[in-house]
Amino acid sequence: MAPVPYLLLLLLPLLRVSADELEPCQLDDEDFRCVCNFTDPEPDWSSALQCMVAVEVEIRGGGRSLEQFLKKANSDPKQYVDMVRALRLRRLTVGAAQVPSQLLVAVLHVLGYSRLKELTLEDLEVTSLLPPPPVKDPGPALSTLRIHNVSWATGGAWLSKLQQWLKPGLRVLNIAQTHPLAFSCAQLRTFPTLTTLDLSDNPGLSERGLTTALCPHKFPALQDLALRNAGMETPSGVCAALAAAGVQPHRLDLSHNSLRAAASDDPRCVWPRTLNSLNLSFAGLEQVPKGLPPKLSVLDLSCNRLNRAPRPDELPEVSNLTLDGNPLLDPGALKHQEDPMPSGVVPACARSALTVGVSGTLALLQGARGYA
Ligand SMILES: *[C@@H]1O[C@H](CO)[C@@H](O)[C@H](O)[C@H]1NC(C)=O
Ligand SMILES: *[C@@H]1O[C@H](CO)[C@@H](O)[C@H](O)[C@H]1NC(C)=O
Ligand SMILES: *[C@@H]1O[C@H](CO)[C@@H](O)[C@H](O)[C@H]1NC(C)=O
Ligand SMILES: *[C@@H]1O[C@H](CO)[C@@H](O)[C@H](O)[C@H]1NC(C)=O
Repeated sequence: MAPVPYLLLLLLPLLRVSADELEPCQLDDEDFRCVCNFTDPEPDWSSALQCMVAVEVEIRGGGRSLEQFLKKANSDPKQYVDMVRALRLRRLTVGAAQVPSQLLVAVLHVLGYSRLKELTLEDLEVTSLLPPPPVKDPGPALSTLRIHNVSWATGGAWLSKLQQWLKPGLRVLNIAQTHPLAFSCAQLRTFPTLTTLDLSDNPGLSERGLTTALCPHKFPALQDLALRNAGMETPSGVCAALAAAGVQPHRLDLSHNSLRAAASDDPRCVWPRTLNSLNLSFAGLEQVPKGLPPKLSVLDLSCNRLNRAPRPDELPEVSNLTLDGNPLLDPGALKHQEDPMPSGVVPACARSALTVGVSGTLALLQGARGYA
């Protein structure tokens, strides 16, 4: 072995250790994923240069303001265009920072020359008002946009403003822990290709908020609507919000909301005819709520507090029913004579992995088919 590479081999373990300790950015061995965490008070920003080769990049700003980059952002993007076009970047996460909105849109503008497909903004405070959209060359042609725990100085107009900085074609939009969700519907353009809207983990949303978040007729291609842990109260209230917005999802996820059965004087609501899958798991239900769609392919009632098997007249006509993790199925509850368990607690659901007896489930599924 030639002396120089041999020396390098000897040094490598040392280099590796100091790199791990000091470098804010880490690139994996496949040059695929690069993660930067700029927590140091005087971070070495140039460390991010190694991420230029990566497909997946995640950058966290240590909660600091990125105002200092604003001057650079205002320079003419033409000088980077060729370099940006050559990037392998497909997925980008930007998190933990205060970002002036001018910087955000400048970055989007430059990324318009890249082949970025998925963008996640997480734990950000976007300060100042979002500027008007560019005359030409908007931002990237994203298929997926995730906004998690982002606050917007722009207020309810943020989504419509941000939308204008993206090329059309968005298929998945996921907005969690984000304010405000009362979008300015008049300014919002239609999302003609959006098939998945996920508003989960906005516990303050509620059915009233849903009515203002689902801008009427702006989501014509919607197939999946996820509202996990979004402060929903009754399936019929959600139905009313869908009807008001003219939204016609195929699958609706209402799991992890504490749902109650609708009061008997609730006006009956007509569910979208397209709806064939409804998820009511982890909803604290003691009985099957009234006013469900009359016919479904999939109904998930797992991890509730159903004490007895639902009667056929309580259930919609459904071919695929899941009742795992209800006290009625719990082996502990079944042999309660010898081994009493606290009622209503199903350990499988605490772990959220459904390990309740498979045979029992199958029996119930068969029973359910019998009802249908
Ligand atoms: C970034 O570093 C901070 C401080 O060391 C740490 O608390 C945080 O979990 C890190 N974030 C990621 C995504 O690694
Ligand atoms: C949400 O983002 C802010 C910064 O804008 C951060 O201080 C806060 O810790 C984040 N919340 C969570 C739950 O991560
Ligand atoms: C229903 O939601 C739960 C929890 O969010 C999830 O684990 C389960 O897979 C979902 N069921 C269906 C049929 O998608
Ligand atoms: C029931 O629906 C779930 C979720 O869509 C699916 O994974 C499962 O295979 C279906 N089961 C049957 C028996 O069709």
